[in-house]
Amino acid sequence: MKKLVLSVAIAGTLLSTISPVFAYEQGDWVVRVGMTNVAPDDSSTNVNVGGADLGVGVNVDSNTQLGLNFVYFYSPQLAIEVLAATPFSHDIVLNTVGPLGSTKQLPPTVSANYYFLEPSAKFQPYVGAGINYTLFFDEKFTDANTSAGFSKLDLDNSFGLAAQLGFDYMLDDKWLVNASVRWMDIDTEASFELNGSAGSVDVSIDPVVYSITAGYRF
Ligand code: NI
Repeated sequence: MKKLVLSVAIAGTLLSTISPVFAYEQGDWVVRVGMTNVAPDDSSTNVNVGGADLGVGVNVDSNTQLGLNFVYFYSPQLAIEVLAATPFSHDIVLNTVGPLGSTKQLPPTVSANYYFLEPSAKFQPYVGAGINYTLFFDEKFTDANTSAGFSKLDLDNSFGLAAQLGFDYMLDDKWLVNASVRWMDIDTEASFELNGSAGSVDVSIDPVVYSITAGYRF
């Protein structure tokens, strides 16, 4: 009898944390909104101007913007997710010298996410893999560098792999909170002119991208 009472108590505890109302279903949509931080883990070649190696490279600072996720569930454990955001703005710094210029970018990313635990649990971690396309725009040198003769800054758009870890935590059958960390392979060649001579530098930005969002299931 004691055993039975214990079993019922354990079952009751399990039922209170694992409830079918939280389970994702095929055809569900989830929209998440929150903050997304792009933190470059960057490295670069030395800057080259007119065939001469300047002996220094560049680095790129981090930026936080409004992040949006659109998620569609193919099955209770497999979802397709699109990451969108308001444009990120990054300063570009010439190493040990100072500010060089800045760029804006949008990094739309499509991922397939696999939810690997019990679908009806409140805590639903996932792993994802996908493709990132990064569009650079509004590239410009600082006013001082423009006065010094730098012009025509252009960063090539980037196409690469992306991977992520994240979780949804269901607050009820509609609302959830989410956190994720992504790795994106983003590489670009920056080209420019300095007083008529062509210059360039290859930059590997490869950021870690952190998001904290609130989500709603439809
Ligand atoms: Ni890379």
